[in-house]
Order: sequence, then structure tokens, then C-alpha cells
Amino acid sequence: MDKFVIRGGTPLQGTLRISGAKNSALPCMAAAILTEDEVALENIPDVRDIETERKLLVSMGAEVELGYGRAHHRTRIRCALLSDPVAKYEIVKTMRASSLVLGPLIARTGMARVAMPGGCAIGGRPIDLHIKALQAMGAEITQEHGYLEARAKRLRGAHIVFDKITVTGTEDLLMAAVLAEGETRMENCAREPEVTDLAKLLIAMGAQIEGAGTSTIRVRGVEKLHGAKHRIHPDRIETGTFLVAGAITGGDLTLTGCNPDHLSAVIEKLREVGVQCDLAADSIRVRTPGRLRCANISTEEYPGFPTDMQAQFMALATQAEGTSLVTENIFENRFMHVQELIRMGAHIRVDGRTAAVLGRSPLSAAAVMASDLRASASLVLAALVAEGETIIDRVYHIDRGYERIEEKLRGVGAKIRRIGNVFRESEETAVHVTA
Ligand code: UD1
Repeated sequence: MDKFVIRGGTPLQGTLRISGAKNSALPCMAAAILTEDEVALENIPDVRDIETERKLLVSMGAEVELGYGRAHHRTRIRCALLSDPVAKYEIVKTMRASSLVLGPLIARTGMARVAMPGGCAIGGRPIDLHIKALQAMGAEITQEHGYLEARAKRLRGAHIVFDKITVTGTEDLLMAAVLAEGETRMENCAREPEVTDLAKLLIAMGAQIEGAGTSTIRVRGVEKLHGAKHRIHPDRIETGTFLVAGAITGGDLTLTGCNPDHLSAVIEKLREVGVQCDLAADSIRVRTPGRLRCANISTEEYPGFPTDMQAQFMALATQAEGTSLVTENIFENRFMHVQELIRMGAHIRVDGRTAAVLGRSPLSAAAVMASDLRASASLVLAALVAEGETIIDRVYHIDRGYERIEEKLRGVGAKIRRIGNVFRESEETAVHVTA
């Protein structure tokens, strides 16, 4: 298994380019199921989850060309024939976002068999809300042998009120509704930029959607969708992670190719702790002129502070003056990084959903274990300021969602190297499913 070896203590300096958003690319690739024409996507991040989604689509009969070389970061998907509308456990067990194919598969083929997402490192992560809403649209859903089977000759429009805000649930149902008969009105929808990005692609494919990016979305179903070309928006979580990397090391970093508008809550918090963020249309420069101060965060649905940035902020809080309270409201078990940060010298006390992080703790290098995607990112950040050489094991979690993070960080001065074979671990070892 690959490991990262990181020697802390170097302020990061220079420019770093942000990749396309994994959490946008995944639903957009699933949207290709909705048409027999070609869907071409640009700015696809080169991360492992994308490769998993490619395998998933191919296993169903799709032709997927993931571009490399000159066509790097592009993909062309053609689902002319979906001979096997099944999301097999062997493929989907590593990636919970696989529930995203449920809606489009029923909408396009009238049937779907999708392996139920298994237990997960950051909480139960059920898909009951997807199921309930699809049933309201006329799907018959049964569950057997670890698979969910859904059938509907043609889905019909419905009035759906999500009991809880769900990002992939909103995306899944949006994809189901675009080919349904009649109008679907979805309320209490996720407002995440990834939902808006998906809606943009669907509209380019001929869908009739209003209100994406707000909590009420209206969809008028159409008979057929056609091919389209779409550019995936920049990854706001990768951007946020590198903002913290600049801040925690006391560096001077400029992130390019990003969208500062998607990071308002994160930037506001960084400013509160004393980080200077200079914003331009598609870049952010980050510096820390003085001492970092503590601040409290509480994760919320967009546009609130993202749960996917909680672990990284906690690493930053270990270096700030005073005690920061970090409250996780979205997932019930998302403090796995805490034990590892404590092993590096952090002082953190968890009480239910809140962690109290005592600041100005000198961190010292240790052998630590990555446990999920964003928790792993927080360990990288902590290692960048720890004294000595930290070894992070199981970096396949990071490879799921960050494109060549070690190369990007090395490019701005970090002392980080990968040991072991790049991408060598088999999917069998990567059984934890995370955000
Ligand atoms: C997505 C993101 C993930 C992010 C999360 C929250 C992708 C691929 N992943 O995950 O990075 O951390 O949003 O911003 O986009 N829930 C239910 N029943 C359901 C669905 C969800 O109870 O049917 C609950 C979940 O357990 C959780 C909450 O709703 O407590 C939010 O989950 P959800 O927004 O669905 O997260 P994901 O879409 O899985």
C-alpha cells in the first residue's frame, strides 16, 4: 500500500492549479445514462473515484473513453445500449456515490439493480430518501441479496419533499425526473454547487429544469434527451484544503482555476482566524500575516460550512491561539481523524457531535493511518507543520478524491513523497466507502 512521507516545517509558496470537482463529475458521468448520444465532459479530475465510475458504466454496456495525453481530463461517454443495468457490488463497494446511477437507470431502461451501499467509515449513509422519492414517482422497489431492484415502465412526475437535505439524493431524483411523465416538484433540495452543475449539463441535454441551486426544483419531464458537452466546475473542497495548507504553514499560496464564490463560508472562517484571502474572479491568494486565532465552526448544508472541510479546519485549529469548537451536524461519525491528530500531539476532546480543539499545540511526526478521504487530508495538513517525518498509511483514501496531491504540494515547496507503487492497491483493500 502506498504511503506518504512528509517532513513538516516548510511554508508553502507559489501557485497551484485546482482540478475539476469530483462530486460534480460523478453525477455528470451518471447523467450520460439518460441518453443514447454522446456526452462529453471536460475538466474531469484524475482521481480514483472517476476510474471506478468508468468501470461501473462500462460494466453496464456503456462506451467510456477517459482521456489521457493531450485529451487529459476529458471523457466521452456513450450509453447507446445499456445491456446490463446493474451496479455490481464488486465495483460499487468502494464508492457510495454509486447510488447516483439508480435514478437515471430506471428513467432510461425502466429497471435498475444496484448493490446497496455498505457500512461506511463516516456513518450509516442510508439511501432511504432516494427510495421513498422514487416510489412516489411510481417505481416498484424490492431488496434482495444485498441488491436494490427498481422497476417502472415510465416514472411519473410527483411532489417530493425530502425529509432531510441530501446532495446525491437531490441529484439522483433530478436525473429520474427529467425523463418522467409530467412535472416533478422537489422541495427541501440540496443547494450545493454540484447540483447546479449537474442541472446545467441536463439542461444542455434538453431537460427542462427550473430552480436548481435553490431548495425547490421543478422539472418538466421530456420524452428523450440528447448528447451534450459540459465543463465540470472547479473542486471547492480541494480549493479549501489547499487554502488551509497555505494558512497552516504560514505560506503565500495562489490557487488558480477555482471559484471563490463557492467557498464563502470557508473563506469567512479563515478570515476570522486571521488568514488573509485575496480573491479574484478565478483565483485566491492566501497568506497568514500574524498569529492564527481560534474560531468555532458548525457544519451545515451549502451555503453553510461544508462537512467535507471539517477535518481540515480541525488541523488548522490545532495551531491557533485558544480553543476552537468544531461541531459536525451532517454525519454522525466523522471524527476519525481526531485520534490520529492526537497521536501527533494535538489536544482534542470529543463530546458527542462537538470536538474542542486546544490550539498552539506543537505537532510532532508520527506514523498515522488515513481513514477516509477528508480525514486523510487533515493528516497531510497536520504533517506539513509537524516536527519530523510523518508517515501516512493507506493513502488510497486520498487518491479517491485528490488529484496527485503530493505532486501539487511538492510544486509549492512541501517535502512530501509517495512510497510504494502508485495506485497499486486493489479495490479489494479499499473497502471503506467515504465522502
Ligand atoms: C455528498 C458528497 C459528500 C458530502 C455530503 C454532504 C458526493 C459524491 N458526496 O454525499 O462529499 O460530504 O454530500 O455534503 O457528492 N441521508 C439519509 N437518507 C438518504 C440520504 C442521506 O438519511 O437517503 C442522510 C445522510 O446519512 C447524512 C445526510 O443525510 O446524514 C446528508 O447526506 P447526503 O447529502 O446524502 O450525502 P451524500 O450525498 O452521500
